[in-house]
Amino acid sequence: MSYKVKDHFFHQAKKDGFAARSVYKLQELDKKYKFIGAGQTVVDLGCAPGSWSQWLSQKVGPKGSVIGFDLTPVTLKLPNVYFYTANLLEIKIVDFLQEHGHSGAISGVVSDMAPKTTGIRDVDQARSLELCEMALQTAEDILVPGGYFVCKIFQSQDFDLFRKQLKSKFAKIEILKPESTRKNSFEIFLLGLKKLP
Ligand SMILES: C[S@@+](CC[C@H](N)C(=O)[O-])C[C@H]1O[C@@H](n2cnc3c(N)ncnc32)[C@H](O)[C@@H]1O
Repeated sequence: MSYKVKDHFFHQAKKDGFAARSVYKLQELDKKYKFIGAGQTVVDLGCAPGSWSQWLSQKVGPKGSVIGFDLTPVTLKLPNVYFYTANLLEIKIVDFLQEHGHSGAISGVVSDMAPKTTGIRDVDQARSLELCEMALQTAEDILVPGGYFVCKIFQSQDFDLFRKQLKSKFAKIEILKPESTRKNSFEIFLLGLKKLP
């Protein structure tokens, strides 16, 4: 059960040339906590249709790169972005990166992954959590010490547990519900800063 919200952010994304309104969520996080920088390599989990990757590509610049993964192919062509089509619950990204020649240091892992929602809250929350656990494991596997992790999660009674897991792995944790998130949405973003060695 998914639908497109044609609100101010939808129209703004069209005007700004972004593939989705989701871009403003990452922009808001970065504006507030300033973690994305030039020269970084960032792994974008659940990247389709590509707005986060578009913006990351601009922020990391020609000396940086973005490696995006999604179930759905992304057709955008961006100079410093590699897009891969995969079910992330079925591959191990650390191995995949090595096999595909991405051997450089990874500064950030960002995940906007969301399961196909069923409308059954418990099921949707459990599926979201499964994706978040996988994203966190990926961050643990590939991030450099000091790196960052952004993760969208559907709020549930397990949220606190996940937040605690994050807290044990990063020096600083932030929680944000961005402006551009629909008011009736139960998604929230967690940010882990300065990954512990
Ligand atoms: C909200 S969209 C991401 C939007 C994206 N950040 C952007 O800015 O264009 C969530 C994405 O998560 C992806 N996703 C969900 N489960 C996945 C999985 N198991 N493996 C890979 N991608 C997955 C979906 O295909 C969907 O494209």
